Amino acid sequence: MNILILGGGGREHALAWKIAASPLVETLYCAPGNAGIAREATCVALDIADHAAIIAFCKEKNIGFVVVGPEAPLTAGIVDDLAKAGIKAFGPGKLAARLEGSKGFTKDICKANNIPTAAYERFTNAATAKAYIAKQGAPIVIKADGLAAGKGVVVAMTLAEANDAIDMMFGGGLGDAGAEVVVEEFLEGEEASFFVLSDGENALPLISAQDHKRVFDGDKGPNTGGMGAYSPVAIMTPAMEKRALDEIVLPTIRAMKAMGCPYKGVLFAGLMITKDGPKLIEYNARFGDPETQVLMLRMQSDIVPALIASCDAQLKSFDLRWFKDAALTVVMAAKGYPGNYERGTEIKNLDAAEKIDGVEIFHAGTRADGGRILANGGRVLNVSAQGSSVSEAQARAYAAIDKIAWPEGFCRRDIGWQAIKREKGA
Ligand code: AMP
Ligand code: GLY
Repeated sequence: MNILILGGGGREHALAWKIAASPLVETLYCAPGNAGIAREATCVALDIADHAAIIAFCKEKNIGFVVVGPEAPLTAGIVDDLAKAGIKAFGPGKLAARLEGSKGFTKDICKANNIPTAAYERFTNAATAKAYIAKQGAPIVIKADGLAAGKGVVVAMTLAEANDAIDMMFGGGLGDAGAEVVVEEFLEGEEASFFVLSDGENALPLISAQDHKRVFDGDKGPNTGGMGAYSPVAIMTPAMEKRALDEIVLPTIRAMKAMGCPYKGVLFAGLMITKDGPKLIEYNARFGDPETQVLMLRMQSDIVPALIASCDAQLKSFDLRWFKDAALTVVMAAKGYPGNYERGTEIKNLDAAEKIDGVEIFHAGTRADGGRILANGGRVLNVSAQGSSVSEAQARAYAAIDKIAWPEGFCRRDIGWQAIKREKGA
């Protein structure tokens, strides 16, 4: 079968690497892809917001299956449009993708189904939001309702920060995404990313990973899309995963079905593991980035039948096998990210870095220029490694990073610190 992947980040490179290894694939395409994905797939310069162009390409190349990476095409209804054209695609339809596209929608589902999450209220004007904030006190969390490319959440430690966030969002700082705002309780605990495949009715849990959202070591600085990840996660014991499944994910899948918009695809629950158990921070309607990079390294089974089973409502008796080894990925970003950064700087010595045992480098914002690899985005590389422990995987990833010559890039040096502290028995 010919498969098309939509997207061009580290998540899509990891998916392409895993999908390309499936014996079910004849030709793998990726739009738009990047310099690393070009090793696994034929990259095509399609605008993934142009659904008609994607459908035309699928027909021309006899694409049997489309795997959608990022959230924007999902919330824009790409899966529905492909289905109408008779093309099978992995991911939720437009109505089901509201679990990511509207925070208020998700919070209301939680309330109606007793799903543990932070207490909240929804607001459409600044004055009532500020009155609520004044009553609740700080710390408190302010979230734009819509998609805001990772910039829509402000964890305010003071009332002044909270009120500034309200003014920024209602002042149009995030465009339409901030026209409605959710204000919610600050949750304390350790975060984990939990993934399940859903076919609308059944859920097949994948494994958990832990992301590192803040840009600097010690979890300091502004939030980013994610600066590194690892798996397995000690707090996500089988018992904790069962609670997350029974108390959070399955009630959501049942609610979506009852509302007439069954959720198919990967459901990514961002969890806070509090002293009372798992609470939902947010849902994403897609694989995590950079979590997918470690998920794919740990997945032993062929991924393609699982993705197809999610579309075909065949997950009920499905099983996936995983490697016991740990995996860890470190994001290398252009200096200045998540603010302004330069593009077009050259990255050298990737070949030497990839020769280190257990290392796999997934590209995010890169492009090839003849034989040179140039940075072409904020998050640029995911230097990833397997190891018998998180500590070993981390040592291998940083040994590879130390071989890469890219003066205009940077990375955190402490990815996996929570696991390594535990492994050392501290
Ligand atoms: P989100 O974009 O919803 O994943 O939020 C970004 C980050 O903000 C999360 O990964 C958390 O670190 C933090 N965050 C979001 N909601 C809360 C909350 N209710 N309590 C504490 N931290 C939160
Ligand atoms: N790493 C978090 C995300 O993909 O949203």
